Amino acid sequence: MSTAVVDLDDLDLYTSGDPHAVWARLRREAPVYFNDTPNGGYWALTRYADVNAVYVDPATYSSKNGTVLGGSYRSDRDTASGQMLICSDPPAHRQLRQHVHQAFGQRMMDVAAGYVADYLGAALDRMTADGGGDFATDIAPQLPAGLLAAMFTIGHADALHLLRLTRTMIGFRDPEYTAPEAPEAMILAGAQVEIFDFMTDLLAARRREPADDLISILLAARTNGRPLTDSQILYNALNVAVGGDETTPFTASAIVETLMAHEREASRLHADHALLGTAVDEFFRWTSTNAYVCRTTTREVEIRGVPIPAGATLTLWNASANRDEDEFPHADRLDVGRTPNHHLAFGVANHRCVGMPAARMEITLLVREFLRRGLRFAPAGPVERLRSNFMLGIRHLPVTVSQSEV
Ligand code: HEM
Repeated sequence: MSTAVVDLDDLDLYTSGDPHAVWARLRREAPVYFNDTPNGGYWALTRYADVNAVYVDPATYSSKNGTVLGGSYRSDRDTASGQMLICSDPPAHRQLRQHVHQAFGQRMMDVAAGYVADYLGAALDRMTADGGGDFATDIAPQLPAGLLAAMFTIGHADALHLLRLTRTMIGFRDPEYTAPEAPEAMILAGAQVEIFDFMTDLLAARRREPADDLISILLAARTNGRPLTDSQILYNALNVAVGGDETTPFTASAIVETLMAHEREASRLHADHALLGTAVDEFFRWTSTNAYVCRTTTREVEIRGVPIPAGATLTLWNASANRDEDEFPHADRLDVGRTPNHHLAFGVANHRCVGMPAARMEITLLVREFLRRGLRFAPAGPVERLRSNFMLGIRHLPVTVSQSEV
């Protein structure tokens, strides 16, 4: 398969139409595929078994150069490397992770669930009264807003402000979130600086007066008796803010799009609320918001007989692995009762999404609310997607909403 026929472009996942068609072809014809690009190219792994094997071997496949192609916090000269969870390797990663993980305990999730339920409930009330709206802008942002309000002890308005900043950082190639004349690097750097300013103010405030939140947990953390540096705290606060803001809202919109496109499965779920747990996992598998992550080879390797040099960039396509027939029977069929369902939407092994308990809490609350209220959605205009090289994101989802008897 030559590079010309598959446009796994590193700018926009939708340049060649439905990316799932591209991934299905790669899984079949070229599961270890070199995508040649002007800046050196990268390898694309699209089968479940290969993606999984790389995830579980961090010594051979490093995260130090970041996990996004040519995007945010990527270069090994970037000061984030080794300081921020997502771009660290063991043993530094293990030490950082143990501290950040504390902030996702049950108590924090219970507090966050209260905020999420309040914000979400009010937004759904408004949309139901109006008969519809833009799900992506009216409802989806309320999920991370509730989470971050709890995790950073900030108000609703500040949580939405933080969301706008992280959206600019992730959507820095998307004209909707950026000024058209500004170069990409400047937009990205500008958004990062603003988030750091925001976090720096919080850090100073929590140092004066600790609260029950992530920054206070990181301030109190000790590794071999030593505290974390300010930059470690700031980078990991940024990592959590971006991880929290730029995933679940896109997943939420993708779930509504999926429910509208799969009437039968939607009705099955509405008729049997006991399917909520399996449905949520099936939605994570199906939507795979974080389409891929990157790794860099620390030595020469061979995958399916294909030699790959040391220092090569590998992309692990979660979104493709999650539709691999060898792992999931009828992988191309949405099945809200699917079990088992060992999807890779959150990755696996040492870097497996530390925010998974939050994502599960938010998405379960959302779907439970759809069921409890008997909400059914229908399309009310074209879906607009985020221009991004690694997020399968929806930025506008016009819908009408109706409420059936429950
Ligand atoms: C549907 C929602 C989500 C998806 C699909 C998702 C996906 C992922 C994936 C695939 C990874 C692994 C990265 C790697 O192996 O290099 C990851 C890591 C991470 N995620 Fe999430 N995530 C979600 C929600 C969240 C939330 C809600 C937060 C925080 C509030 C969060 C914060 C993080 C952080 C900090 C990491 C780095 C963990 C580490 O490197 O040890 N994520 N996420």
